[in-house]
Amino acid sequence: MNAHSLARFPNGVYSRAAPIRSQQSKENSIGVAIEGHNLNFSFASRQAKAVPILRDCSLRIPCGQFWMLLGPNGCGKSTLLKILAGLLNPTSGTLYVKVPKTFVFQNPDHQVVMPTVEADVAFGLGKFNLTRDEVRSRVSRALQAVGMSEYMQRSVQTLSGGQKQRVAIAGALAEACKVLLMDELTTFLDESDQVGVIKAVRNSVYTSSADVTALWVTHRLEELEYADGAIYMEDGKVVKHGDATSIRSFIEASFSPEGIRSGKVKQPKNLLVSSCIQMKELHHFPLVKNM
Ligand SMILES: Nc1ncnc2c1ncn2[C@@H]1O[C@H](COP(=O)(O)OP(=O)(O)O)[C@@H](O)[C@H]1O
Ligand SMILES: [Mg+2]
Repeated sequence: MNAHSLARFPNGVYSRAAPIRSQQSKENSIGVAIEGHNLNFSFASRQAKAVPILRDCSLRIPCGQFWMLLGPNGCGKSTLLKILAGLLNPTSGTLYVKVPKTFVFQNPDHQVVMPTVEADVAFGLGKFNLTRDEVRSRVSRALQAVGMSEYMQRSVQTLSGGQKQRVAIAGALAEACKVLLMDELTTFLDESDQVGVIKAVRNSVYTSSADVTALWVTHRLEELEYADGAIYMEDGKVVKHGDATSIRSFIEASFSPEGIRSGKVKQPKNLLVSSCIQMKELHHFPLVKNM
């Protein structure tokens, strides 16, 4: 199964792995898009030893909100997101993710395959047995949500990386996706493209009548301004979980001179930290959390 086919199966059935244990409460089916309890995940090392990657991660994301997952490189963000997408099975723990769900890949060239924007967004709709008018209407609404309506007839080859990401997100929206899972989409994009993608996701969540929930992995602290809520991870654990403002304050405080003096922080490591440096002008402080 290639990357593109995974991205275009938003029904939550990526059949490579055994089914994840689900807990489906009434509350889940109404107001919660993602809920995980005590999720653990280990990789088998060459010596067949289990190497723990995620430890007792619990999270809860309400429907219809835009959330972010932040943390230093290597803390387990992508692993957790792949578990939520069903691409990896947790070693233990319980998980509920609303379906259909779509995992959007980082490389925009893995997202789009058809020659034109319109054809690409319509690509996944064949399985729904829709009339031509219904297909057109879904494609048009999805492109409007991501701000790409005027590109409908364009060749995908002429689009920027961020525009391709937006077309991929439109494809998911056209298929009535309920949960969008996105891993560092803006990493390879220039600044205006980054803002275009993040605004497209936000708009998709806020203007959609379909109650779309988005979870966005990033190590850029400044992107938090677009989020409703966030989860901060370190060393395979969820350290903090809450509204975006309190998570931002928590991260900034962790990397403040006081936080550094407390001995929890040692040397520069990642962009999350460099975002803090820019904001706090802490260039002379060593800046990585001890793990
Ligand atoms: N296929 C794999 N085999 C073994 N270890 C892995 C594999 N993928 C990721 N890891 C390890 O798991 C940890 C978390 O990785 P990842 O989830 O990619 O972190 P993040 O996305 O936060 O940078 C890292 O230490 C990484 O080296
Ligand atoms: Mg990652």
